[in-house]
Amino acid sequence: LLLLLFSRRRREGEPPLIKGWIPFLGKALEFRNDSYQFLQQLQKCHGDVFTVLIAGKYMTFVMNPLLYPAVIKQGKQLDFHEFSDAAASTTFGYPAVRTGRFPGLSDKIQRSFLLLQGFALNSLTLTMMGNLQLVLQQDFLSSHEVGSVCDWREEGLYEFCERVMFEATFLTLYGRPTHTNSDVHAHFHRERWIDALRDNFRKFDAVFPLLIARIPIGLLGRTKSIREQLIRFFHPQRMAEWTSPSEFIQARKDIFQQYDTLKDLDKAAHHFGILWASVGNTIPACFWCLYHLLSSPQAFSVVREEIMGLFGEKEPESVLSRDILTREQLEKLIYLESAINESLRLSSISMNIRVVQEDFCLRLNPHSSVCVRKGDIVALYPQSTHLDPDIYPNPQQYQFDRFVDNGKVKTEFYKGNQKVRYYHMPFGSGATMCPGRFFAINELKQFLCITLLMCDMQLNAGQQHATMDKSRAGLGIMPPANLISFRYRVKKNSI
Ligand code: HEM
Repeated sequence: LLLLLFSRRRREGEPPLIKGWIPFLGKALEFRNDSYQFLQQLQKCHGDVFTVLIAGKYMTFVMNPLLYPAVIKQGKQLDFHEFSDAAASTTFGYPAVRTGRFPGLSDKIQRSFLLLQGFALNSLTLTMMGNLQLVLQQDFLSSHEVGSVCDWREEGLYEFCERVMFEATFLTLYGRPTHTNSDVHAHFHRERWIDALRDNFRKFDAVFPLLIARIPIGLLGRTKSIREQLIRFFHPQRMAEWTSPSEFIQARKDIFQQYDTLKDLDKAAHHFGILWASVGNTIPACFWCLYHLLSSPQAFSVVREEIMGLFGEKEPESVLSRDILTREQLEKLIYLESAINESLRLSSISMNIRVVQEDFCLRLNPHSSVCVRKGDIVALYPQSTHLDPDIYPNPQQYQFDRFVDNGKVKTEFYKGNQKVRYYHMPFGSGATMCPGRFFAINELKQFLCITLLMCDMQLNAGQQHATMDKSRAGLGIMPPANLISFRYRVKKNSI
């Protein structure tokens, strides 16, 4: 097999082929080291489309965003579920969904995603707002003597984002495990079930890239038992007792109930997978959004003014409640939205992957096409678009208002004189686009509004700039590589 793989030669009509000199691995090490630089270099030498052997897979990269529509629209011969379904089931530990054992399950799961959008998003937004405030209030009450809530507190910025978003998102989606108490004033007796869950989650997340790369879980130390504990947390018998789950999670519970072929722990593993999807990217995204705002006084003051503008004469801290900042109000915050989009542009390194179903020639534009083979992968690498100086001048620079034009959301971006349709892709593209994207953007807006309204915050002086941990390149929003600490205190009227 190795010999077969390595002896592949480029055929007429196929893109340039780069195999490297190491059988099977091909260019895997260079790709892993710095995928962006590596692909930029290949684009310079070989043009916009080329095929690279990476760890046993032939991957055809389409690098020019003006060619993306050809890939995104091509549904028949490029399958978008094959890769992600297989990767997700082995990573989270449930049986593959698209098999005869679970007829119709995949479609039902896809339909459940609609409950993260549209009308259902209103109640998710409302619940999230209540939970964000609750988590911050509990946090302060449990760590401060009553009466001294205004003391400064120092913490890692990432750890803060993780703590707040993990708990608030969990409560919003899954509801409240019954053994916990939602009363803010019972904070001193609070069981820290969420801390244990988050700790395990963090350990699992650290090896997530290896699991996605199909390294057998048995080779990854304690990961198997940590994953088992995480899955057991979502056992249907336990979940049946949790109060007020979201419509989304309730619908998924009902769907799984219809399948006798799904064991209890399989159902639990599906719920665990959604936990990862819902916070795995949102937490690092919160970090970058807050970090960029705190590092840029101009951005901070424009965004803060915009949020304060929603409250007219009233002091925002004194009107904090679950009903403030409705979905419509959040939609009006275009500078905030632009700042978020800019942080996502700079911190997202994802890949859009399609598996070729049969040998065929992909038409890229009226003048050219490339031939690809069954079983190969066609990949888009949006970071090269996000950092393209033609589309985004000074692409490495944070410009919070890049996505605002004449007081409106800016949606027109050009490469040369051609309009680029897919200029911003942190959530993927086409049929595989993240179904949680509207909820995610709302959550980010809410997190930033609430922290800006409830807290005074400052980055600690004399620190190095935050850099990205690129070991997770390809998987979404990169976490920071270095510790960034900040200090914050809650404002008097917010509790
Ligand atoms: C899939 C990004 C937040 C649920 C994805 C994909 C990306 C992505 C890139 C894969 C798309 C593809 O394969 O082309 C993000 C980012 C987020 C975020 C950057 C935050 C900033 C969320 C949230 C949820 C969510 C809050 C809520 C539950 C999902 C699900 C999938 C997914 C369920 C898999 C969809 C499928 O299997 O068809 N996300 N996501 N995501 N995301 Fe998100």
